[in-house]
Amino acid sequence: MSSEKGKWSSGFGFIMASAGSAIGLGNIWKFPYMTARNGGGMFLLFYIIFALGIGVPVLLAELAVGRYAQKNAVDSCREINPKWGFAGYFGVICSVLVLSFYSVVGGWVIKYLSVSAFSGIPSPLFFGEYSVKAYEPILFQALFILICALIVIKGVSGGIEKCSEIMLPLLIVFLIGIMFFVFGEENAAEGIKYFLLPRVSEEMPLSEIILAAMGQMFFSLSLGMGTLITYGSYLSKENDLIKSTFTIVILDTVIALIAGLVIIPSAYAFGGEISAGAGMIFETLPAVFAKIRGGRIIMTVMFLLILLAAVTSAISLLEVFSSFLADRVHLKRKPAVLLSAGLCLAVGIAASLSFGVLSDVKIFNMSIFDFVIYLADNVIMPVGAVSICILAGRKWGKENLKREISLGRKKPLRSGNLIHFILNYASPAIIITAAVINF
Ligand code: TRP
Repeated sequence: MSSEKGKWSSGFGFIMASAGSAIGLGNIWKFPYMTARNGGGMFLLFYIIFALGIGVPVLLAELAVGRYAQKNAVDSCREINPKWGFAGYFGVICSVLVLSFYSVVGGWVIKYLSVSAFSGIPSPLFFGEYSVKAYEPILFQALFILICALIVIKGVSGGIEKCSEIMLPLLIVFLIGIMFFVFGEENAAEGIKYFLLPRVSEEMPLSEIILAAMGQMFFSLSLGMGTLITYGSYLSKENDLIKSTFTIVILDTVIALIAGLVIIPSAYAFGGEISAGAGMIFETLPAVFAKIRGGRIIMTVMFLLILLAAVTSAISLLEVFSSFLADRVHLKRKPAVLLSAGLCLAVGIAASLSFGVLSDVKIFNMSIFDFVIYLADNVIMPVGAVSICILAGRKWGKENLKREISLGRKKPLRSGNLIHFILNYASPAIIITAAVINF
C-alpha cells in the first residue's frame, strides 16, 4: 500500500481529518451519558485535567512517532525500537473492538436519520423498542461499516479529508444553535448545574469516576491505539506538531462540552429522569426536536451531521487495521479494507445483539456491549498510551523526540524538556495510578 499511500493535501486538511477522527460519537453520544452516569461535574473536572495533562503529550508523541517513521502503527513503533512493535499491535486489535460497538451506534444513527427524514420524529420510547430487535439493527450496522469501507478504499486525502472539512464547522454551528434552544427550557438550569458543578456523593466512588474520565479522554481523542501514529505518518515535515496537537485537543473538548450542554439539560427538561445509558441521545434529542418548529428538518440535518462525524471517526479506525493488513500481509488496499470491515462486523453483531437476544449474557456484570467499551477504554487504551509514552520518552531518546517535534516550527522549541519529562515520568505514573486504585 505504501505506493498508494497518500499525503494530506494541506495542513488544514490534516487538522480537519485528525479532528474528524477525534470528534465523533465519543463526543456527541458517549460523553454526555458517561458524564451523567459518573456524577456530572466531578467527571467533567477530571476529564479536562486529563485532556490537558495526558491527552496533549500522548497525542503529540503519537504524531511525532508516526511522522518520523512514515509507516503503519506497528512498523512505526518498530522503527523506533525493533522490540516495540507490540505497542502498535494494541491499536490494531483495539481498532476492531472499538469499531465493533461503534458501528452498532452508527447503525442506530442511520436508522434515526431515515425515520426522521421519511416518517417523522420518533417518540422517546422508540429507542427501547428498536434497540432490542435482532435483524434490523444489524442491517443498519452493516450499512454503516460499508459506507466507511467505501471511503477508506478511496484513500486518505480523497475521502477522509474532504468529508471532515465540510462536516465539522457545520456540526459546531448546529450544536450551538440547539444548545441555546435547550437553555431556554424549564428545568434546563438543573441539568446545567449537574453538568458543571463538581460534587462528591456516596454512591459514586471517586476512583471509579477518575478511571472513567481517563478512559473517556483516551477514547475521545483517539489515543493509545496508533490511530494518530497512522495519521501522523501521512504528515509533512513542515507541520507544527505542537500547534496541531493543541488545536485537535481543544476542538475535541469544546465539542464534547457543547454536546454535554445540549444533552444533559435536555434530559432534565424533557426526559424526567436521566437515563444515563447508551440510549441517552436517542431518547432526549427527539424530545427536543419535537418542541421546535421545523424540528423534523433540523433533526434530519442533525442526525446527518452526527452520522458524518461518526463516519470520519470510524474510517480512522478502519484505516489502522487496513493499513496494517496492507503493509504486513501485502494485500492490496481494497481487499485489506474489505477484510477489516468484515471482521469488525462479525464482532459487532454480538455487541448489537447484547441489547436484545443476548441481553442475559453478562461478563463481569456488564453486557457484551458495555464490556467491550470497558475493555477498550479502561484496559487496552491506557496500556497502549503508557507504551507510547515509554517508547517516545525513553526508548527514542530525548534528543530524537525534541528534534522531530522541532521540525516545522517557526520558533525554537522551549518546552522540549517538559514534554519529555511528562512522557517519561508523569503520564505513565498517573495512568498507572488511576488504573491501580480501582482494584
Ligand atoms: N475518538 C473517536 C470518537 O470520539 C473514536 C475513535 C476514532 C477512536 N479512532 C479512535 C477511539 C481510535 C480510540 C482510538 O468518537
